[in-house]
This record gives sequence, C-alpha cells and structure tokens, in this order.
Amino acid sequence: MSKRMFASTQFQPKEFVFNRENKFEEERIIAKYPIGCQASALLPLLDLAQRQHGGWLPKIAIRYVAGLLDVSEVRAFEVASFYTMFNLSPRGKFLVQLCRTTPCWLRGSDELREACAGHLGIKFDETTSDGVFTLVEVECLGACVNAPMIQINDDYYEDLDPKRIVELLDSLKAGVSVNIGSQNPCRRFSESAAGLTTLTDT
Ligand code: FES
Repeated sequence: MSKRMFASTQFQPKEFVFNRENKFEEERIIAKYPIGCQASALLPLLDLAQRQHGGWLPKIAIRYVAGLLDVSEVRAFEVASFYTMFNLSPRGKFLVQLCRTTPCWLRGSDELREACAGHLGIKFDETTSDGVFTLVEVECLGACVNAPMIQINDDYYEDLDPKRIVELLDSLKAGVSVNIGSQNPCRRFSESAAGLTTLTDT
C-alpha cells in the first residue's frame, strides 16, 4: 500500500471552510442521519472537503469537518488517515491507483506498473513534474473479474495491458475522452468476454 503521510507545513493552508454550494451539500448530507447521529456524516463530509480542495485533505479541513459534526479532532484524523480514498498530501490532476492484489497481479499488474512508471517517469507515491499524474499502489478495488485494472480519479479502467494503459494516460493528458470500464471490446460490463456460456435459452 502507498505511504500515508500528511503534507508538510509548507503545503498546509491556514484556512478552510465549505464554499456556498458545499454548505448546501453539507446540510443535505447531515439531514440523512437521525438527530444525534450526525457523526455518521464524517466520511461523506471529509469526501466533500477533499473534492473542494482539489483532491486532497489538509489538516485544517479535517479539523473543520470535526467541528461541524461535534466529533473529536483525533477521531476525524483517525478516519482520514485510515481510509486510502482520502489523500493527505497534494496529488496530480489525475490520481492513478494501480491495483496490485492477487487477481490483478496474476493478470499482469507488474507489467502495468512498469508501463506506467516508465511512461510517466515516476515511481509509486510520486507526481510528474508537470503536476498531471500521481501514481499510487492500492489493494483490491473490487473489480477483480476484469483484472488487471486501475482507478483514475473516480473512474475504473479494466482488462488493461501495457499498451492500452499508455494510450489511456496519453488521452487523459491530451483531454481526449476515453471509455471507462472494460477496455476489452469483446466484453460487456463484467460478462464473459467469450459471450454467454450458460442460460443461453429460455
Ligand atoms: S484484485 Fe484488483 S480489483 Fe480485485
């Protein structure tokens, strides 16, 4: 798993508050939970704060969310530092999360890592000098059926090989739209790429 380190002081902003739009979203999220159980909104509000702050959570934002929900700061820090979907330091425009758990590994995640690292010129936990890509290693993302796969920002890209992953990275950088999901043209969603094999008639 990638390192979980808070950004150094020079990157930590002095202030954080939800903008006007996210204040409405904050109220909408908190209203989903019974009165007295607002602490349950910790995860979605940390996520909201991360999205507002360009994809990572500064310490001041974690404290801000803890204050909104009246939970202890240490509890909010525990949650933010435990879940790997929360980024604790600045990241590139595209966060490339490469799954290396067993099904993806058996299906070629090592070759994907070499292709990504070689093409981008970075190692895990590093960001390209132009600030476009950050590469991290993650555990199973739950799409093993179409292994090997990566997540880039909020989207999954599956059935990858080294050539296709390089094409994807280049397209994203160029602002060209790319298909999400399986990159195997023979596969629909997570169905067998060879077509139906059972329940083929009524
Ligand atoms: S092992 Fe990679 S998605 Fe499950």
